[in-house]
Amino acid sequence: MKKNEVMKKLEEKIKTCKKCPLGELRTNAVPGSGSYDAQIMFVGEAPGYWEDQKGLPFVGRAGKVLDELLEGIGLTREEVYITNIVKCRPPNNRDPTEEEIKACSPYLDKQIDVIRPKVIVPLGRHSMAYILKKFGFEPEPISKIHGKTFEAKTLFGKIIIMPMYHPAVALYRPQLREELEKDFKKLKEMLKELS
Ligand code: SF4
Ligand code: URA
Repeated sequence: MKKNEVMKKLEEKIKTCKKCPLGELRTNAVPGSGSYDAQIMFVGEAPGYWEDQKGLPFVGRAGKVLDELLEGIGLTREEVYITNIVKCRPPNNRDPTEEEIKACSPYLDKQIDVIRPKVIVPLGRHSMAYILKKFGFEPEPISKIHGKTFEAKTLFGKIIIMPMYHPAVALYRPQLREELEKDFKKLKEMLKELS
């Protein structure tokens, strides 16, 4: 099966999934958006209010920050792939539970296997912890490791992981927005080296 077909099938499966209790509470599941041939994959935490309304990732206020950060390094949403660890909105935007992450993360694992990105950017500490553990690294405080790179070996080659702060923190802490902008510049430099 072609990449496109596999991804479309997976998205359909996510849209009707009831593997955890969040499936009963959602308006729309949010599989992810962007290019299936993306070199970079951004992984947030879980959909919020607007994402649940629209079925698309990062379309609220944090999404606007992400758009600006992408634009700042000359990238568009269409060139990257954006998704979350958990595909349905937790009530009142609470953190997803361990059980919800366990139930939902196989979808993310599959998205990584099919897209085969060169770089994964976990956004925020929950996503950072999941991705680093998945590839055999120890999670550390996001304040310490944001903008650092971890090289993971996979069956299809190496993946570079560069954790960053969640764009939502930039909304109320301007100094963290500066850190995000610096980390995006590093990402841009790294992409130049990879190409
Ligand atoms: Fe299924 Fe994930 Fe939604 Fe739970 S959060 S119902 S596992 S898609
Ligand atoms: N925050 C996230 O972690 N993901 C989204 O899709 C939106 C906000």
